[in-house]
Amino acid sequence: MALIKQSSIQAVLDACDMLEIVSPYTELKKTGANYMGRCPFHNEKTPSFSVDPAQKLYYCFGCGEGGNAFTFLQKIESLEFADAVQALADKYAVNLEFKQSSAGQEERFRRRERVLSLLDQAASYYSRCLRDSAKAESGRLYLKRRGFKEEVIRQYRLGFSPPGGQALAKAAQDKGFSAEELISTGLVMQKSGRFYDRFRGRLMFPFTDHRGRVLGFGARVLDDSKPKYLNSPDSGLYHKGNLVFGLGNARQDIVRQDRAYVVEGYTDVMALSQAGIKNVVASMGTALTGQQLREISRFTKNIYLSFDADAAGQKAILRAQELANNMAISLWVVKMPPGQDPADLVMSAGGGQDYDCLAAEAPTLLEYQVQMTLSRSDLSTAAGRNKAFAALKKVLSGAADAIERDEQLRIIAGRLRLDVENVAYLMKAVSHAAAASDEGEARQRVLTHQESNERSFLSLCLAYPGEARRYLQAMTDAYFTTEQTRAAYHWVKERIEGHNAGSKAAPDFSTGAAASILPELQIRSRSGQELPPDALHELFFRLSEARINRRISVLKEELSRDDNNSESFKDLCRLETRRREIIELIQSGSYEF
Ligand code: UTP
Ligand code: MN
Repeated sequence: MALIKQSSIQAVLDACDMLEIVSPYTELKKTGANYMGRCPFHNEKTPSFSVDPAQKLYYCFGCGEGGNAFTFLQKIESLEFADAVQALADKYAVNLEFKQSSAGQEERFRRRERVLSLLDQAASYYSRCLRDSAKAESGRLYLKRRGFKEEVIRQYRLGFSPPGGQALAKAAQDKGFSAEELISTGLVMQKSGRFYDRFRGRLMFPFTDHRGRVLGFGARVLDDSKPKYLNSPDSGLYHKGNLVFGLGNARQDIVRQDRAYVVEGYTDVMALSQAGIKNVVASMGTALTGQQLREISRFTKNIYLSFDADAAGQKAILRAQELANNMAISLWVVKMPPGQDPADLVMSAGGGQDYDCLAAEAPTLLEYQVQMTLSRSDLSTAAGRNKAFAALKKVLSGAADAIERDEQLRIIAGRLRLDVENVAYLMKAVSHAAAASDEGEARQRVLTHQESNERSFLSLCLAYPGEARRYLQAMTDAYFTTEQTRAAYHWVKERIEGHNAGSKAAPDFSTGAAASILPELQIRSRSGQELPPDALHELFFRLSEARINRRISVLKEELSRDDNNSESFKDLCRLETRRREIIELIQSGSYEF
């Protein structure tokens, strides 16, 4: 396998001019050592997008996007890593050299290919079974009863898992796949030395990535037993929250129509597709995640939420609003008739046309929220209108688009029977809030206090490496509560301890848990607004205290279940003492280490 040599990747990076690369997408102005502009990744009025030409990094204080020249191009032009490197190599006339991958890389690559091939063959196995096996009769009948035709069943590669319990495991082993490979796909489980199929007697829905590669399965029962769907466990290959069901099939139609429908269920996707609405994907049951929205937004910025008309659907819609605040996308809501999901709707008499009508009338998410709030309120009394007013003010303060906001404001004023003076008052309060929300900070993903302390601490470590060393050495993973900050802790520590001193290799921003926050840490460490070194001491103690608190609650939990556990009790006393010491140190300001 040919890979781009690390030295070539570095040469491209060395040749890059971040300002030149970013400038076509946003206007940059010099502020201190860095340049600022409006973020090309989300809508904003005041600049919070910062570019550091010396370190060749960018970071948005508003939406948290950050990285280097490669990640910038990857995100903004939807490119794979190697294509982004190639594009910049062309731009800066750098000759790329390729190398044969190392034995270890080769091995990892081969293993990945084998596991992918196993998953693909399993999908074929299940779909053959659905088509031919006598045991799958119930599956075929079920699909027929629900009105799914052969074409759509083939398109989504539906299958049936044999009820026996070992059929797939056997078939795969006969093909030469190892036990370890079988287990790593989640298709097979091992129990006292024997192998069992995870999926038995279920209808199989393959999960594919946007290129159509099978990464896992969702499996539906045919009766009323629970769980209704059994899904592949998260694995090295995929995490359910990252995947969008049906994207491989839908992506071209999504691009062509510049619009995507997001439904809840796999069957909704199939039903809509069969009814001729092919730009449709599903959120995989887990409430829609930010990662899924981002994945869809690579193909269109117009996303139509088409969730069931129930409480869970409502919740998912409102959550989507929060997630989307950080991304330059527009959200609409396709309102389902009560008690129906999109599959029910298009399978009934009106078919796809009914759905098209609903979609044509789809309100924007803001409009939808205003409508919902108004319809839930009692507008016949002053007290009711007052309550509605407060709720609506909150809804509107989340609005990014000023024109749309004003329009909704007029509608609200009419319904609440407010006179002009009150409307003006409402306007002022709301546009004030909206202006604040345009500021980077208010828009930033809400970090917990703890997360934000961890990040501040790490960026201060980069700013004051001399002072930071002893703290970093005294700490462990347990001081950090997120996967990103934990990975970043290792990266910062290694860098400061000088393991990296000789090499000026740029951090790899395309993969790894730390990737998403390293640019933020680095840019903050040189922003010129960093806190004084004293803050480093204080934050260290804060993180220590928080760690002890977490340990204490675990121990209390243990003790509450079993109060004879004298070990836990001793630990608890020790920790409580230590906590008091730390709090005293912080309060007295004596930061002796
Ligand atoms: P639904 O219960 O609405 O199922 O769950 P559905 O897809 O419409 O299926 P039919 O039409 O009854 O056959 C919606 C989605 O929630 C996830 C699945 O992604 C499902 O498609 N889900 C639901 C699970 O992952 N596990 C479950 O047990 C139930
Ligand atoms: Mn459903």
